Amino acid sequence: MRLLFLGDIVGRAGRQAVLDRLPGLRQRWNLDCVVINGENAAGGFGITEAICDEILAAGADVITLGNHSWDQREALVFIERQPRLIRPANYPPGTPGRGAAVVEARNGARVLVVNVMGRLFMDPLDDPFAAVERELSACPLRDVADAVVVDFHAEATSEKLAMGYFLDGRASLVVGTHTHVPTADTRILPGGTAYQSDAGMCGDYDSILGMQKDESIRRFLQKTPGSRLEAALGQGTLSGIAVETDDVSGLAKSVSAVRLGPELDQAWPTAWDS
Ligand SMILES: [Fe+2]
Ligand SMILES: [Fe+2]
Repeated sequence: MRLLFLGDIVGRAGRQAVLDRLPGLRQRWNLDCVVINGENAAGGFGITEAICDEILAAGADVITLGNHSWDQREALVFIERQPRLIRPANYPPGTPGRGAAVVEARNGARVLVVNVMGRLFMDPLDDPFAAVERELSACPLRDVADAVVVDFHAEATSEKLAMGYFLDGRASLVVGTHTHVPTADTRILPGGTAYQSDAGMCGDYDSILGMQKDESIRRFLQKTPGSRLEAALGQGTLSGIAVETDDVSGLAKSVSAVRLGPELDQAWPTAWDS
């Protein structure tokens, strides 16, 4: 099965890159399942129902979230009627929405997608390792799911690596989101789980994490109240990871970073183009 995971969509630039390129990539690469983090899709802050629908229509099967889940308050309501939009599983009990989704991929396989949030340098939440363990024991790889994708929305690479090795052999892909900068550690762990500490963002990289530079720089220079951070509006780059899984084991057979757009070194699964 061919899986594509894309990191945090930031604002219009990120949305446009996804809308322009994803439908073509789904065809060209014969993608079976696409998961995208959408926590910054609405101007950098959260996601609206209209934007959620637009991203799903462009070819995403599941949209994940993170610490910006509720920046657009309407998400607290519409997430209840949108099973393809998930938020971190380790929010407190009673939080709207779900932390996992099982979707049917294009090839008919069942894909479990889990979203969890880290605790190092983040708002403390419930234990993400226990939360992911719960979701995986309810829907284990091979027994119930044909592929398992875990989006670990976290700041610290140590916590992300710990999650990767914790789930090695039990997930098809463990990928980090949240830092908006892609890491150069795309690989398959010894137990067969594809891994990358951070997927990077879908957005304008001529920016500071997808937001316009001036106000962000000013905040480092002066500790006075300023204006709102606004999403950068230049051409967006798609950034993430592409994984081919084995249909029997559900584990990764090949993996490639994906970076398509103006600023970064380009990367894509070249074998999929043949
Ligand atoms: Fe983000
Ligand atoms: Fe985040």
